[in-house]
Amino acid sequence: KKVGVLISGRGSNLSALIEAARDPNYPADIVGVLSNKAAAPGLATAAHEGIATASLAQSKFPSREMFEDTMTQVLESWEVDIVCLAGFMRVLGEDFVSHWQGRLINIHPSLLPAYRGLDTHARALADGATEHGCTVHFVTLGLDEGPAILQARVPVLAGDTPETLSARVLVEEHRLYPQALAKLARGEVTI
Ligand code: GRF
Repeated sequence: KKVGVLISGRGSNLSALIEAARDPNYPADIVGVLSNKAAAPGLATAAHEGIATASLAQSKFPSREMFEDTMTQVLESWEVDIVCLAGFMRVLGEDFVSHWQGRLINIHPSLLPAYRGLDTHARALADGATEHGCTVHFVTLGLDEGPAILQARVPVLAGDTPETLSARVLVEEHRLYPQALAKLARGEVTI
């Protein structure tokens, strides 16, 4: 299966997917990376790997719909079967989500349905959570609401800060996302 990855920044999950896809037995290839930020470090990572890249600034489009239609056109020009959101910091609208429904997944740094949205690590700490983690889920219109594919848990440790906790979760994200994408690419999960 051909996979397009949407990013906005660092791209460490993108790197984990690229790394996993090096295995000839892995059921997916990362064929293109699309960013809504031209300066996203993940774009340079992808280009260095010889992967097609594109960057589209939403502000250059007259509407969100036109921005997202153009994203779909770019992804389709790459003949993408599956779209992975990996730190893509924009909420997607109805046309894009319904066009890719069942083929569009995201990684979120919490044990959904807990802590949808931003600042998940700080919120988990503020609540005194003893456990935290990450979820790969299908994307639906409700923010961080689609059905989960896989989750990974980490303990919250005494003295944790949002930084130490997010680092512990990120290790699991990099393991989980390639596993979840493989399940979808093999047809082992459907929405
Ligand atoms: C990750 O924590 C991911 O769960 C969240 O945004 C962050 C992206 O990090 N959605 P990176 O760009 O993959 O390094």
